Amino acid sequence: MNLRQRMQAESYDGYTYAYPHKTAYRPLDPPIPLARAWAEEPKDRLFLYTHLPFCEMRCGFCNLFTTIRPAQERVEATLAAIARQSAATARALQPGRVAQAAFGGGTPSYLSHAQLERLFDGLARDWPVDFSNIPVSFETSPGTVDAAKLALLRRLGVDRLSLGVQSFRPEDLADLKRPQPEGQLERACASVAEAGFEVFNIDLIYGNAAQDEAGWEFSLRQALRWRPQELYLYPLYVGKLTNLDRLGRRPGERRRSLYRLARQLLLSEGYQQVSMRLFRLPGLRLDTDYCCQEDGMVGLGPGARSYTRALHYSSEYAVGQPGVRAIIEAFCQRTDFSLADYGFALDLHEQNLRRLLKTLLRGLPLDFDPQLPQLVELTELGLAQSSPFRLTPEGLAWSDTIGPWLYSQPVQSAMREYELR
Ligand SMILES: C[S@@+](CC[C@H](N)C(=O)[O-])C[C@H]1O[C@@H](n2cnc3c(N)ncnc32)[C@H](O)[C@@H]1O
Ligand code: SF4
Repeated sequence: MNLRQRMQAESYDGYTYAYPHKTAYRPLDPPIPLARAWAEEPKDRLFLYTHLPFCEMRCGFCNLFTTIRPAQERVEATLAAIARQSAATARALQPGRVAQAAFGGGTPSYLSHAQLERLFDGLARDWPVDFSNIPVSFETSPGTVDAAKLALLRRLGVDRLSLGVQSFRPEDLADLKRPQPEGQLERACASVAEAGFEVFNIDLIYGNAAQDEAGWEFSLRQALRWRPQELYLYPLYVGKLTNLDRLGRRPGERRRSLYRLARQLLLSEGYQQVSMRLFRLPGLRLDTDYCCQEDGMVGLGPGARSYTRALHYSSEYAVGQPGVRAIIEAFCQRTDFSLADYGFALDLHEQNLRRLLKTLLRGLPLDFDPQLPQLVELTELGLAQSSPFRLTPEGLAWSDTIGPWLYSQPVQSAMREYELR
Protein backbone atom coordinates (compact mmCIF):
# COMPACT_ATOMS: atom_id res chain seq x y z
CA MET A 1 0.00 0.00 0.00
CA ASN A 2 1.24 3.47 -0.76
CA LEU A 3 0.91 6.21 1.82
CA ARG A 4 -2.32 7.64 0.39
CA GLN A 5 -3.96 4.19 0.55
CA ARG A 6 -2.74 3.68 4.09
CA MET A 7 -4.21 7.02 5.05
CA GLN A 8 -7.52 6.22 3.35
CA ALA A 9 -7.63 3.00 5.36
CA GLU A 10 -7.20 5.26 8.44
CA SER A 11 -4.53 2.82 9.52
CA TYR A 12 -2.62 3.43 12.69
CA ASP A 13 0.18 0.99 11.89
CA GLY A 14 2.38 1.39 14.91
CA TYR A 15 4.26 3.52 17.36
CA THR A 16 7.81 4.15 16.10
CA TYR A 17 9.20 4.07 19.61
CA ALA A 18 12.53 2.88 18.33
CA TYR A 19 13.74 1.77 14.93
CA PRO A 20 14.13 -1.08 14.17
CA HIS A 21 11.34 -2.57 16.29
CA LYS A 22 12.35 -5.33 18.70
CA THR A 23 10.36 -7.88 16.65
CA ALA A 24 12.97 -7.40 13.89
CA TYR A 25 15.76 -8.61 16.23
CA ARG A 26 17.14 -12.13 15.79
CA PRO A 27 19.84 -14.32 17.42
CA LEU A 28 23.30 -12.96 16.59
CA ASP A 29 25.42 -15.81 15.33
CA PRO A 30 28.18 -15.68 16.37
CA PRO A 31 27.51 -13.49 19.42
CA ILE A 32 29.39 -10.18 19.47
CA PRO A 33 31.65 -9.24 22.39
CA LEU A 34 30.41 -5.98 23.94
CA ALA A 35 33.96 -4.64 24.03
CA ARG A 36 34.06 -4.95 20.23
CA ALA A 37 30.52 -3.62 19.65
CA TRP A 38 31.31 -0.48 21.65
CA ALA A 39 34.97 -0.04 20.63
CA GLU A 40 34.38 2.80 18.15
CA GLU A 41 31.46 4.47 19.96
CA PRO A 42 31.64 7.81 21.74
CA LYS A 43 31.43 7.00 25.45
CA ASP A 44 31.37 10.40 27.08
CA ARG A 45 27.58 10.90 26.89
CA LEU A 46 26.12 7.49 27.65
CA PHE A 47 22.45 6.99 28.52
CA LEU A 48 21.99 4.33 31.21
CA TYR A 49 18.59 2.65 31.00
CA THR A 50 17.48 0.06 33.58
CA HIS A 51 14.44 -2.09 32.92
CA LEU A 52 12.52 -3.55 35.86
CA PRO A 53 9.95 -6.13 34.68
CA PHE A 54 7.58 -6.11 37.66
CA CYS A 55 3.98 -4.90 38.03
CA GLU A 56 1.15 -5.16 40.51
CA MET A 57 -1.33 -6.11 37.74
CA ARG A 58 -1.46 -6.89 34.03
CA CYS A 59 -3.41 -4.10 32.39
CA GLY A 60 -5.67 -5.16 29.53
CA PHE A 61 -3.90 -3.09 26.87
CA CYS A 62 -0.31 -3.73 27.89
CA ASN A 63 2.15 -5.69 25.77
CA LEU A 64 5.23 -4.51 27.60
CA PHE A 65 7.76 -7.03 28.86
CA THR A 66 6.74 -7.53 32.48
CA THR A 67 5.65 -10.06 35.14
CA ILE A 68 2.82 -9.65 37.60
CA ARG A 69 3.29 -9.78 41.38
CA PRO A 70 6.47 -11.90 41.22
CA ALA A 71 7.64 -13.62 44.40
CA GLN A 72 10.29 -11.63 46.28
CA GLU A 73 12.89 -14.32 45.50
CA ARG A 74 12.31 -13.66 41.78
CA VAL A 75 12.70 -9.92 42.28
CA GLU A 76 15.91 -10.44 44.27
CA ALA A 77 17.31 -12.89 41.71
CA THR A 78 16.60 -10.37 38.91
CA LEU A 79 18.28 -7.56 40.84
CA ALA A 80 21.30 -9.79 41.48
CA ALA A 81 21.52 -10.57 37.75
CA ILE A 82 21.22 -6.85 36.92
CA ALA A 83 24.11 -6.20 39.32
CA ARG A 84 26.25 -8.83 37.52
CA GLN A 85 25.25 -7.45 34.14
CA SER A 86 26.01 -3.88 35.21
CA ALA A 87 29.52 -4.76 36.43
CA ALA A 88 30.34 -6.90 33.36
CA THR A 89 29.00 -4.28 30.93
CA ALA A 90 30.93 -1.43 32.53
CA ARG A 91 34.11 -3.54 32.40
CA ALA A 92 33.57 -4.28 28.72
CA LEU A 93 32.64 -0.72 27.67
CA GLN A 94 35.21 1.34 29.54
CA PRO A 95 32.67 4.18 29.90
CA GLY A 96 33.70 7.84 29.87
CA ARG A 97 30.65 9.51 31.41
CA VAL A 98 26.95 8.77 31.91
CA ALA A 99 25.00 11.89 30.91
CA GLN A 100 21.44 10.67 31.45
CA ALA A 101 19.59 7.81 33.13
CA ALA A 102 16.12 6.31 33.10
CA PHE A 103 14.33 3.54 34.97
CA GLY A 104 11.44 1.97 33.10
CA GLY A 105 9.39 -1.15 32.98
CA GLY A 106 7.10 -2.64 33.92
CA THR A 107 6.90 -0.52 37.02
CA PRO A 108 10.23 0.31 38.69
CA SER A 109 8.39 1.73 41.72
CA TYR A 110 7.30 -1.85 42.45
CA LEU A 111 10.70 -2.15 44.21
CA SER A 112 10.98 -1.60 47.97
CA HIS A 113 12.97 1.25 49.50
CA ALA A 114 15.90 -1.04 50.30
CA GLN A 115 15.91 -2.52 46.79
CA LEU A 116 15.85 0.94 45.18
CA GLU A 117 18.74 2.17 47.31
CA ARG A 118 20.76 -0.94 46.54
CA LEU A 119 20.08 -0.60 42.81
CA PHE A 120 21.13 3.07 42.64
CA ASP A 121 24.21 2.44 44.82
CA GLY A 122 25.31 -0.51 42.68
CA LEU A 123 25.00 1.45 39.44
CA ALA A 124 26.89 4.38 40.94
CA ARG A 125 29.73 2.01 41.88
CA ASP A 126 30.00 0.48 38.40
CA TRP A 127 29.51 3.59 36.24
CA PRO A 128 31.00 7.10 36.12
CA VAL A 129 27.71 8.65 37.17
CA ASP A 130 26.46 11.11 39.75
CA PHE A 131 22.69 10.71 39.72
CA SER A 132 22.19 14.02 41.51
CA ASN A 133 23.88 15.91 38.66
CA ILE A 134 22.32 14.38 35.55
CA PRO A 135 18.71 14.09 34.33
CA VAL A 136 17.14 10.93 35.77
CA SER A 137 13.67 9.70 34.80
CA PHE A 138 11.60 7.13 36.69
CA GLU A 139 8.30 5.40 35.73
CA THR A 140 5.61 4.69 38.30
CA SER A 141 2.02 3.49 38.61
CA PRO A 142 -0.45 5.05 41.07
CA GLY A 143 -0.64 1.97 43.32
CA THR A 144 3.13 1.81 43.91
CA VAL A 145 3.93 5.34 45.07
CA ASP A 146 3.45 7.17 48.34
CA ALA A 147 5.07 10.22 49.89
CA ALA A 148 7.92 8.24 51.49
CA LYS A 149 8.92 6.44 48.27
CA LEU A 150 8.74 9.68 46.27
CA ALA A 151 10.94 11.43 48.84
CA LEU A 152 13.43 8.57 48.53
CA LEU A 153 13.42 8.87 44.72
CA ARG A 154 14.09 12.58 44.95
CA ARG A 155 16.93 11.93 47.34
CA LEU A 156 18.38 9.35 44.94
CA GLY A 157 18.47 12.01 42.21
CA VAL A 158 15.27 11.44 40.20
CA ASP A 159 14.20 14.66 38.41
CA ARG A 160 11.42 13.39 36.17
CA LEU A 161 8.62 11.31 37.65
CA SER A 162 6.30 9.68 35.15
CA LEU A 163 2.93 8.50 36.44
CA GLY A 164 0.81 6.10 34.36
CA VAL A 165 -2.69 7.45 34.85
CA GLN A 166 -4.22 6.30 31.52
CA SER A 167 -7.59 7.91 32.29
CA PHE A 168 -9.28 9.84 35.07
CA ARG A 169 -12.64 8.23 34.22
CA PRO A 170 -13.47 4.95 35.98
CA GLU A 171 -15.49 3.88 32.89
CA ASP A 172 -12.39 4.07 30.69
CA LEU A 173 -10.24 2.29 33.26
CA ALA A 174 -12.80 -0.52 33.43
CA ASP A 175 -12.89 -0.68 29.63
CA LEU A 176 -9.06 -0.76 29.47
CA LYS A 177 -9.00 -3.46 32.17
CA ARG A 178 -6.88 -1.30 34.42
CA PRO A 179 -8.84 -1.30 37.67
CA GLN A 180 -7.91 1.47 40.09
CA PRO A 181 -9.28 1.66 43.65
CA GLU A 182 -11.33 4.78 44.31
CA GLY A 183 -9.25 7.78 45.32
CA GLN A 184 -5.92 6.16 44.37
CA LEU A 185 -5.30 8.35 41.31
CA GLU A 186 -6.05 11.53 43.18
CA ARG A 187 -3.75 10.54 46.06
CA ALA A 188 -0.92 9.56 43.69
CA CYS A 189 -1.15 12.81 41.68
CA ALA A 190 -1.24 14.88 44.85
CA SER A 191 1.80 13.07 46.30
CA VAL A 192 3.83 13.51 43.11
CA ALA A 193 2.88 17.19 42.81
CA GLU A 194 3.74 17.68 46.48
CA ALA A 195 7.12 15.94 46.15
CA GLY A 196 8.22 18.69 43.74
CA PHE A 197 10.00 16.86 40.94
CA GLU A 198 11.35 19.12 38.25
CA VAL A 199 9.25 17.28 35.69
CA PHE A 200 5.96 15.56 36.50
CA ASN A 201 4.79 13.56 33.49
CA ILE A 202 1.32 12.04 33.16
CA ASP A 203 0.62 9.22 30.67
CA LEU A 204 -2.90 9.05 29.25
CA ILE A 205 -4.41 6.62 26.72
CA TYR A 206 -7.18 7.59 24.31
CA GLY A 207 -9.41 5.68 21.95
CA ASN A 208 -11.00 2.89 23.97
CA ALA A 209 -14.50 2.03 22.81
CA ALA A 210 -16.21 3.48 25.92
CA GLN A 211 -14.59 6.88 25.45
CA ASP A 212 -16.14 9.76 23.55
CA GLU A 213 -14.94 13.34 23.03
CA ALA A 214 -16.56 14.60 26.24
CA GLY A 215 -14.99 11.80 28.30
CA TRP A 216 -11.56 12.44 26.80
CA GLU A 217 -11.79 16.15 27.44
CA PHE A 218 -12.80 15.44 31.04
CA SER A 219 -9.72 13.28 31.52
CA LEU A 220 -7.42 15.87 29.93
CA ARG A 221 -8.84 18.63 32.13
CA GLN A 222 -8.38 16.47 35.22
CA ALA A 223 -4.73 16.00 34.23
CA LEU A 224 -4.33 19.74 33.63
CA ARG A 225 -5.41 20.47 37.22
CA TRP A 226 -1.92 19.27 38.21
CA ARG A 227 -0.24 21.40 35.55
CA PRO A 228 2.17 18.55 34.71
CA GLN A 229 5.30 19.69 32.89
CA GLU A 230 4.77 16.88 30.38
CA LEU A 231 1.87 14.86 29.07
CA TYR A 232 2.29 11.73 26.99
CA LEU A 233 -0.92 10.94 25.10
CA TYR A 234 -0.97 7.40 23.72
CA PRO A 235 -3.52 6.26 21.13
CA LEU A 236 -4.75 2.86 22.25
CA TYR A 237 -3.29 -0.15 20.48
CA VAL A 238 -4.61 -3.64 21.06
CA GLY A 239 -1.61 -5.88 20.48
CA LYS A 240 -1.45 -9.65 20.15
CA LEU A 241 -1.61 -11.71 23.36
CA THR A 242 -2.85 -8.78 25.45
CA ASN A 243 -5.92 -9.29 27.61
CA LEU A 244 -7.96 -6.86 25.49
CA ASP A 245 -7.01 -8.90 22.41
CA ARG A 246 -8.10 -12.12 24.11
CA LEU A 247 -11.44 -10.46 24.82
CA GLY A 248 -11.77 -9.47 21.18
CA ARG A 249 -11.73 -5.74 22.03
CA ARG A 250 -10.61 -3.22 19.43
CA PRO A 251 -9.86 0.49 19.74
CA GLY A 252 -12.83 2.79 19.09
CA GLU A 253 -13.17 4.64 15.79
CA ARG A 254 -12.40 8.03 17.23
CA ARG A 255 -8.65 8.06 17.80
CA ARG A 256 -7.97 10.65 15.14
CA SER A 257 -10.58 13.15 16.31
CA LEU A 258 -9.58 12.60 19.94
CA TYR A 259 -6.00 13.41 18.99
CA ARG A 260 -7.09 16.69 17.40
CA LEU A 261 -9.17 17.63 20.40
CA ALA A 262 -6.26 17.02 22.77
CA ARG A 263 -3.75 18.87 20.62
CA GLN A 264 -5.97 21.93 20.39
CA LEU A 265 -6.70 21.93 24.12
CA LEU A 266 -3.07 21.53 25.17
CA LEU A 267 -1.78 24.17 22.76
CA SER A 268 -4.42 26.58 24.09
CA GLU A 269 -3.22 25.77 27.64
CA GLY A 270 0.33 26.81 26.74
CA TYR A 271 1.87 23.39 26.01
CA GLN A 272 4.24 22.84 23.11
CA GLN A 273 4.00 19.79 20.90
CA VAL A 274 7.22 17.76 20.74
CA SER A 275 5.87 14.71 18.89
CA MET A 276 2.54 13.07 18.18
CA ARG A 277 2.52 11.81 21.78
CA LEU A 278 4.56 14.29 23.80
CA PHE A 279 3.37 17.74 24.94
CA ARG A 280 5.52 19.87 27.21
CA LEU A 281 5.41 23.19 29.00
CA PRO A 282 7.95 25.64 27.58
CA GLY A 283 11.07 26.74 29.44
CA LEU A 284 11.99 23.47 31.13
CA ARG A 285 15.61 23.02 32.05
CA LEU A 286 15.21 19.30 31.44
CA ASP A 287 13.98 19.13 27.88
CA THR A 288 15.47 15.71 27.30
CA ASP A 289 13.38 13.27 25.35
CA TYR A 290 13.27 10.16 27.48
CA CYS A 291 11.78 8.04 24.76
CA CYS A 292 14.88 5.88 25.09
CA GLN A 293 15.95 5.60 21.51
CA GLU A 294 19.22 7.50 21.49
CA ASP A 295 22.46 5.96 20.30
CA GLY A 296 24.89 5.44 23.14
CA MET A 297 22.19 3.79 25.24
CA VAL A 298 23.34 1.08 27.62
CA GLY A 299 20.40 -1.09 28.62
CA LEU A 300 20.42 -3.16 31.80
CA GLY A 301 17.73 -5.61 32.93
CA PRO A 302 15.93 -8.43 31.16
CA GLY A 303 13.87 -6.32 28.73
CA ALA A 304 16.29 -3.47 28.05
CA ARG A 305 17.69 -2.65 24.64
CA SER A 306 21.15 -1.21 24.02
CA TYR A 307 22.05 0.91 21.02
CA THR A 308 25.36 1.53 19.36
CA ARG A 309 25.31 3.16 15.94
CA ALA A 310 25.67 -0.14 14.12
CA LEU A 311 24.21 -2.67 16.55
CA HIS A 312 21.01 -2.81 18.61
CA TYR A 313 20.76 -5.70 21.05
CA SER A 314 18.72 -6.98 24.00
CA SER A 315 17.36 -10.13 25.56
CA GLU A 316 14.58 -11.86 23.68
CA TYR A 317 11.07 -10.45 23.75
CA ALA A 318 7.73 -11.95 24.81
CA VAL A 319 4.30 -10.72 25.91
CA GLY A 320 2.57 -13.86 27.23
CA GLN A 321 3.41 -14.66 30.85
CA PRO A 322 5.07 -18.09 30.22
CA GLY A 323 7.36 -16.50 27.58
CA VAL A 324 8.23 -13.52 29.80
CA ARG A 325 8.93 -15.76 32.80
CA ALA A 326 11.20 -18.03 30.75
CA ILE A 327 13.26 -15.07 29.50
CA ILE A 328 13.59 -13.60 33.00
CA GLU A 329 14.58 -17.03 34.33
CA ALA A 330 17.31 -17.30 31.65
CA PHE A 331 18.47 -13.77 32.51
CA CYS A 332 18.72 -14.67 36.20
CA GLN A 333 20.74 -17.82 35.43
CA ARG A 334 23.13 -16.02 33.12
CA THR A 335 26.73 -15.77 34.19
CA ASP A 336 28.37 -14.27 31.08
CA PHE A 337 27.13 -10.77 30.28
CA SER A 338 30.06 -9.82 28.08
CA LEU A 339 28.38 -10.78 24.78
CA ALA A 340 25.46 -9.52 22.70
CA ASP A 341 23.62 -12.56 21.34
CA TYR A 342 20.26 -11.20 20.14
CA GLY A 343 19.71 -8.05 18.12
CA PHE A 344 19.90 -6.26 14.79
CA ALA A 345 22.96 -4.99 12.91
CA LEU A 346 22.28 -1.67 11.17
CA ASP A 347 24.05 -1.05 7.86
CA LEU A 348 24.46 2.51 6.62
CA HIS A 349 21.04 2.53 4.96
CA GLU A 350 19.32 1.43 8.19
CA GLN A 351 21.32 3.98 10.21
CA ASN A 352 20.17 6.65 7.80
CA LEU A 353 16.55 5.57 8.08
CA ARG A 354 16.76 5.57 11.84
CA ARG A 355 18.10 9.10 11.87
CA LEU A 356 15.39 10.18 9.44
CA LEU A 357 12.59 8.68 11.57
CA LYS A 358 13.95 10.16 14.80
CA THR A 359 14.15 13.61 13.25
CA LEU A 360 10.87 13.68 11.34
CA LEU A 361 8.68 12.14 14.02
CA ARG A 362 9.85 14.69 16.56
CA GLY A 363 8.78 17.45 14.18
CA LEU A 364 12.40 18.55 13.64
CA PRO A 365 13.88 19.78 10.34
CA LEU A 366 16.06 17.33 8.42
CA ASP A 367 19.69 18.34 8.61
CA PHE A 368 20.89 15.80 6.04
CA ASP A 369 19.72 14.39 2.71
CA PRO A 370 18.50 10.84 3.29
CA GLN A 371 18.19 10.24 -0.51
CA LEU A 372 14.82 8.59 -0.12
CA PRO A 373 12.37 8.84 -3.06
CA GLN A 374 9.29 8.34 -0.82
CA LEU A 375 9.78 11.73 0.76
CA VAL A 376 8.26 13.42 -2.31
CA GLU A 377 4.96 11.72 -1.49
CA LEU A 378 4.96 13.39 1.92
CA THR A 379 5.15 16.88 0.41
CA GLU A 380 2.58 16.04 -2.29
CA LEU A 381 0.11 14.98 0.40
CA GLY A 382 0.75 18.12 2.47
CA LEU A 383 2.32 16.07 5.27
CA ALA A 384 5.72 17.72 4.96
CA GLN A 385 7.15 21.06 3.89
CA SER A 386 10.46 21.66 2.16
CA SER A 387 13.37 24.02 2.92
CA PRO A 388 13.94 22.85 5.51
CA PHE A 389 12.19 19.52 5.09
CA ARG A 390 10.01 18.70 8.11
CA LEU A 391 6.58 17.26 8.88
CA THR A 392 3.70 19.70 8.97
CA PRO A 393 1.28 19.51 11.95
CA GLU A 394 -0.91 17.32 9.72
CA GLY A 395 2.10 15.11 9.07
CA LEU A 396 2.76 14.75 12.81
CA ALA A 397 -0.87 13.67 13.27
CA TRP A 398 -0.15 10.79 10.83
CA SER A 399 3.10 9.75 12.59
CA ASP A 400 1.82 6.23 13.27
CA THR A 401 1.16 5.72 9.57
CA ILE A 402 4.21 7.53 8.16
CA GLY A 403 6.71 5.83 10.51
CA PRO A 404 5.93 2.21 9.61
CA TRP A 405 5.54 3.16 5.93
CA LEU A 406 9.18 4.34 5.92
CA TYR A 407 10.58 1.15 7.48
CA SER A 408 12.96 -0.74 5.16
CA GLN A 409 11.71 -3.89 3.42
CA PRO A 410 14.04 -6.20 5.44
CA VAL A 411 12.75 -4.71 8.71
CA GLN A 412 9.12 -4.99 7.60
CA SER A 413 9.56 -8.64 6.60
CA ALA A 414 11.42 -9.53 9.80
CA MET A 415 8.60 -7.92 11.84
CA ARG A 416 5.95 -9.79 9.83
CA GLU A 417 7.71 -13.13 10.23
CA TYR A 418 8.30 -12.75 13.96
CA GLU A 419 6.35 -15.19 16.07
CA LEU A 420 5.28 -13.58 19.31
CA ARG A 421 5.12 -15.77 22.36
C1 LIG B 1 5.98 1.42 31.13
S1 LIG B 1 4.34 1.98 30.95
C2 LIG B 1 3.97 2.98 32.33
C3 LIG B 1 4.36 2.78 33.73
C4 LIG B 1 3.48 2.04 34.68
N1 LIG B 1 3.75 0.65 34.57
C5 LIG B 1 1.99 2.26 34.55
O1 LIG B 1 1.35 1.50 33.86
O2 LIG B 1 1.43 3.15 35.20
C6 LIG B 1 4.39 3.19 29.67
C7 LIG B 1 3.08 3.71 29.08
O3 LIG B 1 2.81 3.17 27.79
C8 LIG B 1 1.45 3.32 27.50
N2 LIG B 1 0.95 2.10 26.87
C9 LIG B 1 1.34 0.84 27.15
N3 LIG B 1 0.67 -0.04 26.36
C10 LIG B 1 -0.13 0.69 25.54
C11 LIG B 1 -1.06 0.37 24.49
N4 LIG B 1 -1.30 -0.88 24.13
N5 LIG B 1 -1.70 1.39 23.87
C12 LIG B 1 -1.45 2.65 24.22
N6 LIG B 1 -0.60 3.00 25.20
C13 LIG B 1 0.05 2.05 25.86
C14 LIG B 1 0.72 3.60 28.81
O4 LIG B 1 0.24 4.94 28.82
C15 LIG B 1 1.81 3.43 29.85
O5 LIG B 1 1.65 4.31 30.93
S1 SF4 C 1 0.59 -0.64 31.85
FE1 SF4 C 1 2.17 -0.44 33.39
S2 SF4 C 1 1.28 -1.43 35.24
FE2 SF4 C 1 0.06 -2.06 33.51
S3 SF4 C 1 0.97 -4.03 32.93
FE3 SF4 C 1 1.88 -2.43 31.60
S4 SF4 C 1 3.73 -1.83 32.61
FE4 SF4 C 1 2.49 -2.96 34.12
